Parts: sequence; C-alpha cells; structure tokens
Amino acid sequence: AIDLTGRHFLKELDFTPGEFRYLIELAAELKAARRAGTEERRLRGRNIALIFEKTSTRTRCAFEVAAAQQGAHTTFLDPTASQIGHKESVKDTARVLGRMYDAIEYRGSAQETVEELAAHAGVPVYNGLTDQWHPTQMLADVLTMTEHSDKPLEELAYAYLGDARNNMGDSYLVTGALLGMDVRVAAPRSLWPEESVIAAARSLAERTGARITLTDEVEEGVRGADFVATDVWVSMGEPKEVWEERIELLRPYAVTMDVLRATGNPDVRFLHCLPAFHDLGTALGREIHERYGLESLEVTDEVFESAHSVVFDEAENRMHTIKAVLVATLAGA
Ligand code: CP
Ligand code: NVA
Repeated sequence: AIDLTGRHFLKELDFTPGEFRYLIELAAELKAARRAGTEERRLRGRNIALIFEKTSTRTRCAFEVAAAQQGAHTTFLDPTASQIGHKESVKDTARVLGRMYDAIEYRGSAQETVEELAAHAGVPVYNGLTDQWHPTQMLADVLTMTEHSDKPLEELAYAYLGDARNNMGDSYLVTGALLGMDVRVAAPRSLWPEESVIAAARSLAERTGARITLTDEVEEGVRGADFVATDVWVSMGEPKEVWEERIELLRPYAVTMDVLRATGNPDVRFLHCLPAFHDLGTALGREIHERYGLESLEVTDEVFESAHSVVFDEAENRMHTIKAVLVATLAGA
C-alpha cells in the first residue's frame, strides 16, 4: 500500500510511478466525492501556510479552496508584507512556520529555496512553482488527460510546444517519462530543457518504457499526439527584454488549427496551464500587440476557444489534485 504521510511535494523526480499515479487516483476520487456531495473533511483543524513570492491565481486559489473544503485553514504570506527573504532567512522561516503549521506551500524562483524550506520545516513542504518545476500542475494535467481519453496512460502521447527551457518544459518531459508515456517536446534547440533534465528523463524512460522525442520540427513533434500543450513564451521573473527574441524564435511553435490538424487526430485536445496569451486582451498583451502586431502568442484564440480545448477542466483540476496532495501527506493513506 502507498502511504505518503509526512512527505514533501517538491518535484516529480522524488516520486515513484506508483506514488504519482496514486495521487492522480486519489484526486479523481476526491473530485467524484465532491460532485456527489459525499466529501469527508479529513483535514479538520489543520493549518497550512502559503508563501507566494510570485503572483498566482490558480495555485493560490486551489490551495485555499482545497484546504477549506477539507476543513483546514490557510494563511497567505505575501513576501512584501512578511519578513521572508529580506529580514529573515529561509532556514529560520522554515523553523518558525514549522512550529505553527502542519504544512507549507512555497512559490518562488529558486528550486533550492523550496528544498531548503523542506530541509528545515519539519512538516510537509509543497512546491507551488519554481523556475525549474511545476509539479502540482503536472498532477492536474495528467488527471485531465485521463478524463479526456479512454487509453491507459502508457499509450497516451502528448506534445509540448514552445519554451521548453522553463518549469513547464522540464515538468512535462520528466512526468511523461515517469509515467511511461509518449512525450514529445517541439522547440528550437536553444530552448530545449537542460541536458541534465533530458538525461534524467531518458534514464527514467529506460525503466518505465516511456518514449521520448525532442525535435525542432513541429510536424514531427505533434504527429499522432492525443494532446498538444503549450505555455507562455516568457515566464514570471524573466526580464521584458527577452520578449523580442522569444517571439522571433517561437513564432513557428504557436499552437494553431494547422498544428492541431497536423496531429492527424480529429479528437486531439489542447492543454495550457494558464494564464495564456490567446487574444492579447490584457495590459501586457496590448503592449505586445502594439509592438509586434500579433493577434496572439503561444496559442490562437481559435484553438483556445475551440472544442479541442480542455484548459478550464485542467484549471479546475488544479484544485482536486492539490487537495489530493494535502490529504495524502497530512491525513494518511
Ligand atoms: N497554472 C498556474 O500555476 O496558474 P497560476 O500562476 O495562476 O497559479
Ligand atoms: N512558465 C510559466 C508558468 C505559469 C504557471 C511561468 O513560470 O510563468
């Protein structure tokens, strides 16, 4: 039996395929119970600290709602309004919060920071996104894939297009490798994941039977794919100056209807962790539109709004999967 009580959730590589699948199955059960009105509150009286050094809509809300539905309380810590990072070290913060809270979520830049919190907190620590990994997002993506396909995971193929040298690129590559899936990354070579991440994925694949393809050809990447995924071309924390170069490099990797057709699969589904630049209707989007004359970036509005798109199921699943992490690590198997 799988028991994740007391475990951290820092990166996909820390888990066995069985453990990762267990979290997906638990999330599906919790989601069904919520729908049926039979959810049991297994985290009553627990307290969870949420540290966000970067902005968030989904991840923060998912933690807060998941905790509340399970009877737990959360405290949102905004670094500008707390001592973290400027007046107090990560190590001291970990030891203080560990005395008061049952678990700590952290979103920020360095993976080392969330690892350091975990090393000193004495309670489970969850990675809500770092520059290197976005593991809670992967639980939601895999749950969404299982909901939108009848195939077993090992038979599913997904292609990730765009900036693959970011948290989503790394997480997609390693997660598919862990679960024995058919994983394709289609990106310009300069934006492929780092060698060490590719090596980790390849070595996992040898054990799990995963198929891994890295290519700079979109058509090769997407052919036969069940899912096509992408992410923003410039991530949080990156300077504005990289926009120009990224747009230049990544334009051919935008997810359009032609790209979906190139899969050869009429039932192909589109995934995006969100937020997405599909209509450039935001302040930053308008700035980009004025400067580069584009109507969309990583995905066209047509794809985003089409029947292929399952992005809002994926967003909802952030909540059910994060709830599974909380329940599994705090309330026992
Ligand atoms: N996908 C995701 O992590 O969204 P937020 O940045 O809004 O949390
Ligand atoms: N790569 C994106 C993911 C956002 C959820 C970023 O880090 O900004």
